[in-house]
Amino acid sequence: MYVCLCQGVTDGQIREAIYEGCCSYREVRQATGVASQCGKCACLAKEVVRDTLAQMRPAQAAISFPVEFTAA
Ligand code: FES
Repeated sequence: MYVCLCQGVTDGQIREAIYEGCCSYREVRQATGVASQCGKCACLAKEVVRDTLAQMRPAQAAISFPVEFTAA
């Protein structure tokens, strides 16, 4: 789905930017150009970034502390 029509950025591209190392909306914006023109897509772009980061956190926690989290 297109998030930013001005720059032609999709939600998949935003997720990909996060998987490749972006840790914040600002970094995603710099990497993809999302919301850099009219700015109408900023809310949705932030939501996609927030959701993607939230989905990734439990996976990262499980990798960092596999024994503690699986034993509890
Ligand atoms: S729709 Fe994203 S900057 Fe205009």
